[in-house]
Amino acid sequence: MNTMEIAKIKRVVKDTQRIKTFILDIDVSAIPGQFVMVWLPDVDEKPMSVSYTSGDMGITILELGDFTRRLCELKVGGKIGIRGPMGRGFKVYGDRLLLVGGGVGMAPLAPLAEDAIKEGKEVTAIVGAITAKELLFVERLKKAGVRVFVSTDDGTAGYKGFTTDVLQELLQKETFDQCFTCGPEIMMFKVLNIAEDKEIPTQASLHRYFKCGIGICGHCVLDGTGLRVCKEGPTFRDKELRKSHEFGYYWRNAAGQKIYFGVKK
Ligand SMILES: Cc1cc2nc3c(=O)[nH]c(=O)nc-3n(C[C@H](O)[C@H](O)[C@H](O)COP(=O)(O)OP(=O)(O)OC[C@H]3O[C@@H](n4cnc5c(N)ncnc54)[C@H](O)[C@@H]3O)c2cc1C
Ligand code: FES
Repeated sequence: MNTMEIAKIKRVVKDTQRIKTFILDIDVSAIPGQFVMVWLPDVDEKPMSVSYTSGDMGITILELGDFTRRLCELKVGGKIGIRGPMGRGFKVYGDRLLLVGGGVGMAPLAPLAEDAIKEGKEVTAIVGAITAKELLFVERLKKAGVRVFVSTDDGTAGYKGFTTDVLQELLQKETFDQCFTCGPEIMMFKVLNIAEDKEIPTQASLHRYFKCGIGICGHCVLDGTGLRVCKEGPTFRDKELRKSHEFGYYWRNAAGQKIYFGVKK
């Protein structure tokens, strides 16, 4: 849906030191993995995953720059513009699901877990953050009936290290029908490699710089594929991502310059 709705903030939850969830007075009935374009008058319009997908919708914001800072200043009763839901959500077909989320990447994965549990599926989640205070939605997942493993870079909660270390160890002992991941791209790239070795089909939710958000400008195309992250994504199957020489290596900023995640290919 491309028309804009003006939504009122019903509730604000401080999830972590840097992350807040805004519950709005509109129901957009999104599929987990879909996003909305959020408009702040006189500031900008930017993409955000829908973190509460049915009933009153929610978005979960990590404060980074000007837009997210201005958004995080809003209080109950404040108004924002919402276009969406847009893009392709996750597609679930297995019974034993594995979720790997890093930081605010848990935003689209939490509603996926809740819906899957309601449908009688078995869900395991590996939730990672830099430190214990930045872990997102751990209690929400446990309350829904998800088996949760935690990792923190500094060891202040759960395993000291990365989600991908926990994943590697878990897959020595167990298998899953599907894996879903969202978070830093280096993490998702490793998740894909590890899951692929065990022949577990994986879907990842990608983050690219969006301009139009509706498939017109071409700014978010994944090199080598022609796939637009805002239209054919943001969730992609492993096979689609393998066709791109961009995934895991670089993204393009607002000016279209390549920004490498780590080493150049
Ligand atoms: C499909 C999708 C879903 C997203 N879901 C969430 C979410 O649930 N929660 C959340 O906190 N963030 C989410 N983001 C990222 C969010 O849109 C940006 O972090 C936010 O726009 C940052 O803006 P800023 O002005 O505060 O920071 P800036 O300082 O301007 O930017 C910080 C970083 O945010 C990213 N960013 C900035 N502008 C955009 C843009 N127009 N499109 C995409 N990325 C941008 C860039 O990586 C940039 O380096 C999502 C992005 C995409 C593409
Ligand atoms: S942001 Fe314009 S085509 Fe995706």
